[in-house]
Amino acid sequence: MSLIQEPLPSEYLGLSQDEMDRRIRQNKSRLGSKLVILGHHYQRDDVICYADYRGDSLKLSQLAARERQAEYIVFCGVHFMAETADVLTSPQQKVILPDLMAGCSMADMAELAQVEECWDSLEAEYGKEIIPVTYVNSTADIKAFCGRHRGMTCTSSNAGRIFARLLQEDRIILFLPDEHLGRNTGLEYGVKPEEMLLWDPEAQDRELPVQPPRLVLWNGFCSVHQKFTPDQIDQIRKKNAGIKVLVHPECSSAVVSKADLAGSTEFIIRTVSESPAGSSWAVGTELNLVNRLAKENPDKQVLCLNETMCLCVTMNRIDRPHLLWALDNLAAGRVGNQIKIDPATAGEARLALDRMLEISS
Ligand code: 13P
Ligand code: SF4
Repeated sequence: MSLIQEPLPSEYLGLSQDEMDRRIRQNKSRLGSKLVILGHHYQRDDVICYADYRGDSLKLSQLAARERQAEYIVFCGVHFMAETADVLTSPQQKVILPDLMAGCSMADMAELAQVEECWDSLEAEYGKEIIPVTYVNSTADIKAFCGRHRGMTCTSSNAGRIFARLLQEDRIILFLPDEHLGRNTGLEYGVKPEEMLLWDPEAQDRELPVQPPRLVLWNGFCSVHQKFTPDQIDQIRKKNAGIKVLVHPECSSAVVSKADLAGSTEFIIRTVSESPAGSSWAVGTELNLVNRLAKENPDKQVLCLNETMCLCVTMNRIDRPHLLWALDNLAAGRVGNQIKIDPATAGEARLALDRMLEISS
């Protein structure tokens, strides 16, 4: 969900990098333990450097759930992550997103009314237990839907563990909103392609198969990871003998099955960091992270699988001027851009998040 961001006051537009750096650090030390800055790995270098903690979606959810001291949690990431942090923190804590336009196109691909319609159709058709699982890259409404239907959230770090548990029983998993993470995880845990049903909420005259599916996949996708292709893998292997291809499971199953390895953001970081000096990697994920991995591993070759189009533009909306503006507000006792979920939705979303955190702890 992207909201409207008020334009920054003009004084923020002409500041030098040094001036912004000095003032951000000054605000951080003024606010002291009242402030925690969380940063997702896809953030720009000139922003992630201020994060007290950095992580992937799972790690940041765990950190938000543990954080009890700070009054202000400034989230350098996207809207659904700030929503998750608000749900997991106490009512006295305030979660701030420095730019309200930092949304996630995938999270916006599943709307509550559409998901309810899908649920009703599946129940009417199959009369079987359905368990909804949503990737954390979803709105608080969708997490709440999963919470009230005995379902849970997952991240790319723990989707496998959650599938392994849920597939033990005879029921239908409704996976939202990322088709690819759902398909890749399903395939890994033994669901056959013919046991999956792709749900297009816009489809007219839908005909459901007679045989109940084991896995229903919502047809959402990440605009960044969807752009990696099997052909890029062939090309990069041709040009770089011995290179290993490592991709995120938001990529299509054609890409994941062709790659040498696939896994979450934390898995990608760990795999490259722990690989021997001299090894070569083509990484299929967000460009800020790949560039940082290359910088932090100068003894290895780290290339982006496709350098021309894999920057997450919404993650990149969080920049120094917006961070400084948010911190200036807090230092002056004003809370701007607070992300607040209504208590009823937050309560149900929390059920879904807690079920995930319990499985991942
Ligand atoms: P993870 O942080 O779960 O790897 O997800 C990547 C992502 O797309 C975040 O928006
Ligand atoms: Fe959303 Fe993809 Fe950007 Fe992650 S990388 S925030 S899933 S658009």
